[in-house]
Amino acid sequence: MNWGALLAPYIQVVEELKVKLKGIRKQFEYESRHSPIEFITGRVKPVPSILEKAESRQIKMTDIEQKIQDIAGLRVVCQFVDDIYTIVEMLRSRDDLSIIEEKDYVSEKKNSGYRSYHLIIEYPVETIDGRKILMAEIQIRTLAMNFWATNEHSLNYKYKGRIPTEVKERLQRAAEAAFKLDEEMSKIKSEVQEAQRMFHRK
Ligand code: GTP
Ligand code: MG
Repeated sequence: MNWGALLAPYIQVVEELKVKLKGIRKQFEYESRHSPIEFITGRVKPVPSILEKAESRQIKMTDIEQKIQDIAGLRVVCQFVDDIYTIVEMLRSRDDLSIIEEKDYVSEKKNSGYRSYHLIIEYPVETIDGRKILMAEIQIRTLAMNFWATNEHSLNYKYKGRIPTEVKERLQRAAEAAFKLDEEMSKIKSEVQEAQRMFHRK
């Protein structure tokens, strides 16, 4: 398997989408408007993780590109919960990508306590062999959701997916606290934004 050749267009997808999403953020900034995007990260799934996922789902090597939808992954982090939906609608209205799958784990959290809005998109990149339409996963979440997910991910890694019950319960409570934080921040959103605009003018 020539991984370099297979993954090159995915690197292209991640880089292009990062530029475009950062462009949205900048435009809001120039207009001194609250940006629904706080920051963006992106990655191409490392080869060992691709192999692990393929093995665990019994995906044939030839089916990897069709069946693993998150080889290209983008994460958009926002300040407020309603920013998530603003971004989803902005992405929905674009014609340089198309949404093929949506999962709203924001209004319906996962059992673990995980919250995020997931999109699987199709995105065309120009390669030396012509246009290629690839899939990418975009995860959209608040800073609080991101804080929780990052820590839970580390614990999953540490405990190899078998987090002790006591730690799990603590994570559930932390997820509740993160949710409360998002709720409270939403309630004072206009006040926070006014303060941020004042800083911006100075
Ligand atoms: P995978 O894509 O194989 O993970 O399964 P799926 O297609 O059912 O996808 P799902 O939308 O549930 O999750 C996709 C991605 O979201 C994962 O690869 C993680 O990055 C993230 N994710 C989902 N659930 C959790 C969770 O409980 N904790 C954390 N930290 N991340 C999660
Ligand atoms: Mg998936």
